[in-house]
Amino acid sequence: MDVRSLRIIEPNETLYEAYMQFCQNFHYDNWQYINGIGPMLRSTEDETLTCKEDFLDGIKRCLDFRSEDNLPKGWVPCSTYWLIDNSENIHGTACLRHRLSDSLITEGGHIGFAIKPESRNHGAATQLLHTLKLIAKNKNIDAILLTCNKDNAAARRVIEKSSGVKAEEYVSNITGNLIEKFWINL
Ligand SMILES: CC(C)(COP(=O)(O)OP(=O)(O)OC[C@H]1O[C@@H](n2cnc3c(N)ncnc32)[C@H](O)[C@@H]1OP(=O)(O)O)[C@@H](O)C(=O)NCCC(=O)NCCS
Repeated sequence: MDVRSLRIIEPNETLYEAYMQFCQNFHYDNWQYINGIGPMLRSTEDETLTCKEDFLDGIKRCLDFRSEDNLPKGWVPCSTYWLIDNSENIHGTACLRHRLSDSLITEGGHIGFAIKPESRNHGAATQLLHTLKLIAKNKNIDAILLTCNKDNAAARRVIEKSSGVKAEEYVSNITGNLIEKFWINL
């Protein structure tokens, strides 16, 4: 895979088959929740593989939740993106929260992101974060907060390659996992 051919788009209702294939690839790898899937799911308990009607609802939520209007309780405005190639296969997803809530400061940060298992280790996530940094700067975000599990070496490497500076580490109240917190100044 040539990462230079990848570009990011907002969720698009014409890409149902591509979205299903993207999600399917995580299921082969025993992943249940896809980081950065954003409002495509109503909650972390939702199934990622879904009927077209639910997919279209997810697209609508992604577009609606970019603004403060109609946000469910506990959500902050966010923009969801897909990383696609020239054939419109989806390789990655990311969700950029426009501001931090108390819970996102503790866990989650500004950006959730994931690359599907078969597209990893080609620099796709590094490119995705690079583009998200430019988008965040345009949204007047001065510094991006990222959190990741300490045992997630690939995510930590991507964050460090993106100029992330480690701020602290702590045990998550939610999962009990050791979490590392990083800031990227823009
Ligand atoms: C983390 C993730 C997004 C990385 O995607 P990716 O496209 O493979 O990332 P890149 O190819 O840009 O960079 C990966 C880097 O991690 C390194 N890496 C991969 N696995 C590693 C491991 N087990 N130990 C140490 N480094 C590792 C790679 O060598 C590469 O570094 P390099 O360029 O210096 O060689 C992907 O693994 C993923 O989707 N994981 C599940 C979701 C997730 O963890 N999201 C992040 C939440 S904070």
